Amino acid sequence: IIMDGNGRWAKKRFLPRAMGHRQGAQALDKLTKEAEGLGVEYITVYAFSTENWKRSKDEVDSIMGLLREYINRFFNDKKSILKIRSAGDLTALSPDLRAVTKIAEDVKAGKIQPEDINDQMISDNLDTAGIPDPELIIRTSGEFRTSNFLMWQSAYSEYYITDKLWPDFNVEDLKDAIKAYQTRDRRFGGRKEG
Ligand code: IPE
Ligand code: IPE
Ligand code: MG
Repeated sequence: IIMDGNGRWAKKRFLPRAMGHRQGAQALDKLTKEAEGLGVEYITVYAFSTENWKRSKDEVDSIMGLLREYINRFFNDKKSILKIRSAGDLTALSPDLRAVTKIAEDVKAGKIQPEDINDQMISDNLDTAGIPDPELIIRTSGEFRTSNFLMWQSAYSEYYITDKLWPDFNVEDLKDAIKAYQTRDRRFGGRKEG
């Protein structure tokens, strides 16, 4: 889910952008709990993009504060059956290497040959290793672009764009998105027999 539209949600209400992010975090909290009952096994959310560092320090701080708050709360919630993993370039948060850099290091060290590099190797070295590629990508607030979300993993994902602003998105909207997904004809470059 590309959770977009927090700023517009706040603006419509003459509230500071930080309030939009707070409301957006609440919407996600509620949705993940309700999605459990729908048989959804994995939800990957776009909470902060590399490009979002361009925003004001105030706004970045408000988003990071919310991340900290919700992650702490999640880990202290003993009843939850949800598991949480982070994905993305965490270099600004902790020292970490990205997939392509790791593979290049292995080539340099003579552990693998350049001709050994294939798409599986790249997938296995991404933070999302072991998590299936997203079947459905939802973007809220009506924007028709990926904004750099799961570029590698989304090669064959189905997109669903809704005008709803992220803080207003609820489980009924998620059901609508899943219904739309169920009508898609996924061909993966092949064609139907007969
Ligand atoms: C999405 O809401 C949340 C993040 C990008 C962190 P925005 O802050 O982009 O909201 P708009 O697009 O300005 O409405
Ligand atoms: C994408 O939204 C990033 C997140 C939702 C975290 P943006 O609001 O940053 O994307 P652009 O700038 O409209 O492409
Ligand atoms: Mg936005």
